[in-house]
Amino acid sequence: MTQKTTGFALLAGAGLFGLSLVTGAWAADVNKLVENCAHCHGKDGASTESDVPIIGGYSAPYLNDSLAVYKKKERPCPETKYRSGDKKGQKTDMCQVAKDLSDADIKQVAQYLAGKKFVRPQQKFDPALAKKGKEIHDRSCDKCHSEGGSLASDDAGITAGQWMPYLKEQFKEFKAGKRPMVKKMKPKMEKLEPADIDALINYYGSFK
Ligand code: HEC
Ligand code: HEC
Repeated sequence: MTQKTTGFALLAGAGLFGLSLVTGAWAADVNKLVENCAHCHGKDGASTESDVPIIGGYSAPYLNDSLAVYKKKERPCPETKYRSGDKKGQKTDMCQVAKDLSDADIKQVAQYLAGKKFVRPQQKFDPALAKKGKEIHDRSCDKCHSEGGSLASDDAGITAGQWMPYLKEQFKEFKAGKRPMVKKMKPKMEKLEPADIDALINYYGSFK
């Protein structure tokens, strides 16, 4: 009996060792991890909350980098709360969420969400402002955010159809110098007047 248990333990140990060699590090179950995200970001990252970004369908590199940046607290982490699940109502922020993930977890979660669809919500927008926003976008932003920022493969997020209230906060953070940005985006962002930002947000919100 004792011998049998030992044999089993050895076998199980060898199995674990083999797996950790394959993945490079010990990672948690990806379904459990994304279930936690879903309590705020919605099922498969298709957020229905206007202050929580839609992240399903973002590229894996963008998701990886964003979570790494949150982990290092290099980007603002506004306080937020769980929208559903057993922690509903409990306060936390994205830096805390990222801190609880290992690098291997982040990789798995990024890959999982990158395989999902970016689901655009229906948003109210002003067509005249959207038209003005498109002109500004095409002139200053489309080089990196192609087709209104609808291509995940640009690794620059997805602005086309993203929640307008979330975007508004990001513009505030960029303008205030609180959220870091790539060197070449900075001068473009600095030139924007409040009315330009309003127009851009309406343009992004116009994608259905
Ligand atoms: C308690 C709610 C909550 C949970 C849980 C949560 N998030 Fe977030 N997440 C947010 C909010 C709110 C923001 C927007 C913060 C801001 O306004 O800057 C955000 C932002 C993000 C962003 C930045 C998106 C962008 O466009 O730059 C990523 C990536 C992200 N979350 C991934 C995740 C992942 C992956 C999980 C699960 C492991 C997760 N989040 C869990 C609330 C949450
Ligand atoms: C030189 C390339 C470049 C240019 C030009 C550029 N961006 Fe970006 N932008 C990026 C990259 C890369 C990211 C994502 C990584 C980061 O946060 O730095 C980003 C992120 C963003 C985000 C955040 C997306 C999210 O999911 O949170 C917004 C909003 C944005 N850009 C708007 C603009 C607007 C508006 C312009 C034009 C006025 C612009 N960008 C010009 C490269 C660029």
